[in-house]
Amino acid sequence: MSELAAKLADLRTRFSTDVNAAPDEEALDGVRVAFLGRSGEVTGLRRGIGQLPPGERPGAGKEINDVVEAMEGELAIAQSRIENRVFEADLATQIDITFPAIAPVAGSLHPVRNVIRQAGAYFRRHGFAIVTGPEIEPDYYTFDALNIPSTHPAREGFDSFFITDTLLLRPHTSPMQIRTMQAHKPPVAIVAPGKCYRRDAVDARHLFQFNQIEGLLVAEGIHFGHLKGMLTGLCRELLGPDQRVRFRPSFFPFTEPSAEVDTTCPKCKGHSDACNMCGGSGWIELGGAGMVHPNVLREVGYDPDEVSGWAFGFGVERFALTRFEIDDIRRFIDSDPDFLEQLS
Ligand code: PHE
Repeated sequence: MSELAAKLADLRTRFSTDVNAAPDEEALDGVRVAFLGRSGEVTGLRRGIGQLPPGERPGAGKEINDVVEAMEGELAIAQSRIENRVFEADLATQIDITFPAIAPVAGSLHPVRNVIRQAGAYFRRHGFAIVTGPEIEPDYYTFDALNIPSTHPAREGFDSFFITDTLLLRPHTSPMQIRTMQAHKPPVAIVAPGKCYRRDAVDARHLFQFNQIEGLLVAEGIHFGHLKGMLTGLCRELLGPDQRVRFRPSFFPFTEPSAEVDTTCPKCKGHSDACNMCGGSGWIELGGAGMVHPNVLREVGYDPDEVSGWAFGFGVERFALTRFEIDDIRRFIDSDPDFLEQLS
């Protein structure tokens, strides 16, 4: 072995020992400077090349370069080992791995969805089917078939979002009455929950997108008493056993007679003039209802002399506001989980 090779072998061994012993980056840098720095040991060896016979110089230069390359590789490995050790030490001070895991956030049913489910369960128990339909409807289902001809002022009351001259975002779930009756012979008993849209300015009691539940029962001998019984039962199940229902004469082109339906204010039960839920009236408005108009029955091919029926349409958000005693309907679309998960 040449003298240079022996020196290099010795240098490598000492270098490796020092590198492995370096506890931190500072110490590692010290080793680098001592061996590879400008006045380090390797520089000393390079200087010695000049003393060699000219023929041996290139070989010696290469020998040294190879060893330097290997040393630099070793340094890089040591460097990342030290960095990792620091990282792991940091981690250990930040994370207590013996600590119980954080439970995943499970979420909860939206209160509006809850009301729909519970109302749906009530009607199913009484033999009704739950149906859903399109949110974009032709004006035929929305108006014409419901006894609202294009010239009728009642169309204005629905403040609709039209997509084309004849297609609109449904402003109520009543088109489902027509779709159901055209698809099935009587008797029919359905509830149809779903989203509706109206060009309403948003405030504490209005949204431009909201949910309704439509109800429809058509069979032989159906009368207003059946409607009153079903709606009273619904209010008692969802709002409390003492709820009562009140019908105020009203007008809808697709029902005759028609009524606005109110239920006892579940907050003050009609006993407080200062109640902020019902404004002191003692009643909360839920929606519209009535006996299906003979024109509507005829439109779907039913015979008004053979069958009769009732229909209603309730605002689900209104129901949920009452049920959970909430002051502002916009809370339902704020997506605040702290608020929503309290209501079930
Ligand atoms: N569709 C009516 C509305 O949205 C409510 C209603 C439904 C009235 C069924 C009577 C019968 O205002």
